[in-house]
Amino acid sequence: MNTLLAKVEYKWIILTLKQSRATTTTACKAQVSTLPPEPVIPSKKPFKVDLLGGKRYSWCSCGHSKNQPFCDGSHKSKAQGLSPLRFIPEKDGPVWLCGCKHTNTPPYCDGTHKQDFIASASLHQDID
Ligand code: FES
Repeated sequence: MNTLLAKVEYKWIILTLKQSRATTTTACKAQVSTLPPEPVIPSKKPFKVDLLGGKRYSWCSCGHSKNQPFCDGSHKSKAQGLSPLRFIPEKDGPVWLCGCKHTNTPPYCDGTHKQDFIASASLHQDID
């Protein structure tokens, strides 16, 4: 029996191949999970940042970036399946970007960080 794990467009596919002893046919069982990896929590508070309207930004959605709240590419090695959210604000000005990575209105804070599951969670601390 061979097991193959592959990532295809943000979905993890686990293929299990079985070779029948009685025949030469091969059975293939596939399981598709649409659940991406969970982000870690780098901060339990939002980040207030001044953004420029019309400029493109990449908000870290995995929580591993050392350039919070923006992406530094860490997801490629530490959170495969998660990717940054790219956005362009309409106008210049300060905004509150989510630091807990669990907002329902990414990249902006919606107050989710005040909920118990964030308050009781451990902060992620990178040990590279
Ligand atoms: S910091 Fe994530 S919802 Fe406020």
